[in-house]
Amino acid sequence: MLTTSNVSGPPERIIIDCDPGHDDAIAILMALAMPEALDVLGVTTVAGNASAGFTSENASIICALGRRPNVPVRRGCSRPLVRRFVDATAFHGESGLDGLPERSALASSLPAESAQHAVDFLIQTLTTASEPVTLVCLAPLTNIAMALIKAPEVAGKIKEVVFMGGARRAGGNVSPCATFNVLCDPHAAHVVIDSGLSLTVISLDATSQVIISEQVLEEMGRLKSDVARMGHRLLTYFNRRRMDVYGYSADKTTLNDPCVIAYLLDRTVFRGKPANVAVSIDSELTLGMTVVDLDRRSGRNVNALWIDEVDAPAVLRSMIDAFGRYEVRAIDT
Ligand code: BDR
Ligand code: CA
Repeated sequence: MLTTSNVSGPPERIIIDCDPGHDDAIAILMALAMPEALDVLGVTTVAGNASAGFTSENASIICALGRRPNVPVRRGCSRPLVRRFVDATAFHGESGLDGLPERSALASSLPAESAQHAVDFLIQTLTTASEPVTLVCLAPLTNIAMALIKAPEVAGKIKEVVFMGGARRAGGNVSPCATFNVLCDPHAAHVVIDSGLSLTVISLDATSQVIISEQVLEEMGRLKSDVARMGHRLLTYFNRRRMDVYGYSADKTTLNDPCVIAYLLDRTVFRGKPANVAVSIDSELTLGMTVVDLDRRSGRNVNALWIDEVDAPAVLRSMIDAFGRYEVRAIDT
């Protein structure tokens, strides 16, 4: 079970790069609930599930809901490096966070957005950090690629990139062979995966084992805090939309981005192997496919830890536990 007792030493310093997005929102709220384990230095947003304007506004709303309105939120790139932008509003709704009736009211009460670009925030925060920082990547990798291109020296300040995306066994979720976070900006994924940074990939092979079941919804629904109520609403909407729009059965919607936070909190509930991961960028047929060499057949060097197995009940328990923490006290640092 995931508790802060699994975590020793100072909190892991992280920047969350994301595109909220229902599952991003759940992931952010999980991270904010665990300040003893995770020190969220900032949240950077990118065009992904919805436009960069919406994802940035959504991130600010989520930080305010999570009782951490002072966490810096910075809006990032508005389109992929090369490819035409294709969003995932079919899954997340026009705003990226449809199903939250208070969304518009919450958005209108936000303070003015910072003028600093996410890429500059990443560069500035990394450059001035006394210790290397972990990048929690829950979205297309455009901002991270841009930061590495604009200021390659920041690589020395990145402890690890933990990226949700890619698949081998699971195929894809937006094409027969590609997952959204890679296909949306395959060239950025190539830049980051090829960068030589310490990289952990929480693949769809793993996250697709973590299902938003009726039982999970009931457990979340039993929690009393306003934050848990929002979490319940987000998960319920996300589940229902897939059922309505895509005919998924109730037990098929997967909880993707929160797996990254669960991983940072307790790595022992995940399994993977060192591998070479390469992104297909030259073929329209396989664009965005992650080609994963687990058995050293390609002769290419290991460049990632490829996570493809997870103790799903443990991840779901960690999510419920994190949201449960909003009951007991105000989390404000
Ligand atoms: C990923 O794509 C997005 O739609 C989700 O937020 C998640 O980051 C899953 O493939
Ligand atoms: Ca996401």
